[in-house]
Amino acid sequence: MEARVRIYQFINTGICHGSVEGMTGRKGMVTDMAKQIKTIGVLTSGGDAPGMNAAIRAVVRKAIANGVKVKGIKKGYQGLLNEEIIDMEKWSVSDTIQRGGTILGTARCHEFRTEEGQQKGADICHKHGIDGLVVIGGDGSYRGAQALSRHGINTIGLPGTIDLDIACTEYTIGFDTAINTAMQAIDKVRDTSSSHERCSIIEVMGRNAGYIALWCGISNGAEDILIPEKYDYNEQQIINNIIANRKRGKTHHLIINAEGIGHSTSMARRIEAATGIETRATILGYMQRGGSPTCKDRYYASIMGCYAADILCEGKTNRVVGYQHGEFLDFDIEEALNMQKGIPEYPFEMSKVLSQ
Ligand code: ADP
Ligand code: F6P
Repeated sequence: MEARVRIYQFINTGICHGSVEGMTGRKGMVTDMAKQIKTIGVLTSGGDAPGMNAAIRAVVRKAIANGVKVKGIKKGYQGLLNEEIIDMEKWSVSDTIQRGGTILGTARCHEFRTEEGQQKGADICHKHGIDGLVVIGGDGSYRGAQALSRHGINTIGLPGTIDLDIACTEYTIGFDTAINTAMQAIDKVRDTSSSHERCSIIEVMGRNAGYIALWCGISNGAEDILIPEKYDYNEQQIINNIIANRKRGKTHHLIINAEGIGHSTSMARRIEAATGIETRATILGYMQRGGSPTCKDRYYASIMGCYAADILCEGKTNRVVGYQHGEFLDFDIEEALNMQKGIPEYPFEMSKVLSQ
């Protein structure tokens, strides 16, 4: 695994030049002959995530500070294929850092999964003088970036997803805001659940990953946390747990259910029938994905955006930026996509103890 660790070393110009080969143990300045980058593009792709605007802002302002022109591509790869391309100046990103969603818009684009679509996208980049592109999105968006890189457009991916399901990084843009939004909503559901002595199943997002459910489950003091990576579909055990807790005097019973398991409404019906305890399902949905980003999301997205602009301006391509063990790193896209990450065992085991 080759990962580069950037050292923030500011020389006269204020432009960052220093980098150290990190995980491989090799150290030294980047000296490879790189393609000269004059204009870069930036786009957001896949589901929007709070903090994407902070990342766009950082890419635009750092690239301009590096002497490079910036174009914004609207609505992800779909906008690229439709040539929805705008010039961006420093002021284009004014008053955006605190805003949720993405000022560039986003989309899912089936045509870009095809070889023809990818060739067309690269041709459009060439036509608009775009030598490099920052793609802010998830794994799927990285595949698109990889394809453009094969077609001669330098690409850098930034991890933009509330799901935290990108293996090469401990942090993804939007996760912190999403868990805080969900946590506050779940606290409110808990109030009414306790008042009515009900069981509440609260379904949170995360696609096939259980990170949002795990973090909220622990932070909201849930009695059960159901995540796709661990759930054995033993509903009887949950029913027994609800009955035992009620006997011990608990007035509420919170079940955080990841959307990768889903079916919260039918689960609520079955649990109510089996326990005789009123049970309600609440599906939090898109409210988890919107809203003003937290300080953490603004901070990390800003630094990652600068990092992406810097390595793109240096002529690097086919890389994604991540965060591990307190450091910002970049990885080859293919290596990043082949990495695996699981649910951390200790927090998951402790969640069972904490709610007893
Ligand atoms: P995310 O980036 O959040 O994982 P998606 O999986 O929906 O979200 O991917 C976003 C977009 O990236 C897709 O709509 C498509 O345009 C592009 N994309 C996804 N997979 C590929 C692929 N294998 N090759 C090229 N582009 C892809
Ligand atoms: O990837 C972010 C996410 O919100 C997932 O948690 C969810 O499964 C998915 O996007 C929903 O996507 P869409 O906006 O297409 O409904």
